[in-house]
Amino acid sequence: MVKLIIKNLSKSYVDKKSKSLSALKKVSLNLDINGIFTLIGRNGAGKTTFIRIVSTELLPTSGKVYLDGVDVVKNPKEIRERIAVIPQEAALIPWMTARENIFAYLLWRGLSFKEAKERTNTVLTRFKLEKYADKLPRKLSGGTKRKVLVALVISSNAKIIFLDEPTTGLDPISRRELWEVLTELKKEHLVILTTHYLEEAEELSDYIIILNKGKLVKAGSINNIRDAIGYPYAIKIFKGFNKKIRLNGKVVKKNDGTFQVFSDERTANNLAKKLIKTKVKFSINPTSLEDIFYMLVGDIDKGEENEN
Ligand SMILES: Nc1ncnc2c1ncn2[C@@H]1O[C@H](COP(=O)(O)OP(=O)(O)OP(=O)(O)O)[C@@H](O)[C@H]1O
Ligand SMILES: [Mg+2]
Repeated sequence: MVKLIIKNLSKSYVDKKSKSLSALKKVSLNLDINGIFTLIGRNGAGKTTFIRIVSTELLPTSGKVYLDGVDVVKNPKEIRERIAVIPQEAALIPWMTARENIFAYLLWRGLSFKEAKERTNTVLTRFKLEKYADKLPRKLSGGTKRKVLVALVISSNAKIIFLDEPTTGLDPISRRELWEVLTELKKEHLVILTTHYLEEAEELSDYIIILNKGKLVKAGSINNIRDAIGYPYAIKIFKGFNKKIRLNGKVVKKNDGTFQVFSDERTANNLAKKLIKTKVKFSINPTSLEDIFYMLVGDIDKGEENEN
């Protein structure tokens, strides 16, 4: 377990015209976490800012951050040995092979030649990357490059690994391959992740925080969040619905003529009992993170970027 305590964390960026933009607004958390901790939110919600502050790359404007018992603002050096980060725009060094990239990174982190060589080989084997090891990045597909980057941070043996959108732009198969790597990774490390793929966040995360315009909107496991919004079940009713049946809960009529009803367990059960007596097809599932996200963020925020 890793303790993460955040108190009133705020960050304002000031541009050249001295205009200030607040990217994080009084975010507070107090958690014991392990596994995969995921931040989700629209473009500009503050995810990268959060990661950069917690990983000591950026100073907050105000507030406190303690990660694994360390005040990361006061003692950044103390936490740096325990963390490894892949920033949002990370890329491999183009003139070095995959193997050399990992090896150089480990030397830079202070390992001896011998240790760095051994660890590079171990991680390449562990993630089945041997056949790509001696190729330059431009010869590798996007998915393989990402895997090499993930292998690189893992090779550090850091306790806490930050990955800012590691799967963006990957095809569905490469993405799932990376999910396997992350699932393997979370057995031994705390992974702090951001993603725009909500089915990915739902499948992988042990803990999710939803940010919107710099504010913390909801935090918890997917099940906690489902319960907290009061609509843990989603009933999809296909075409041909008999409108005599009353629909309780949050009802959304889709363009294709289907209805989506979000409700609590009792309402979902009652509705299912009524629907089963009719011929209409329906399905009941736990409400998806995508639907939750839309309820929490889409309804209140039809605007674009965070402008204030
Ligand atoms: N260095 C900077 N200087 C000025 N403004 C910045 C800077 N970095 C981020 N911002 C602004 O702060 C806000 C939060 O940005 P941030 O990069 O943290 O969002 P994000 O949630 O990671 O978005 P995305 O999903 O697009 O990666 C945005 O409005 C952004 O324009
Ligand atoms: Mg970002």
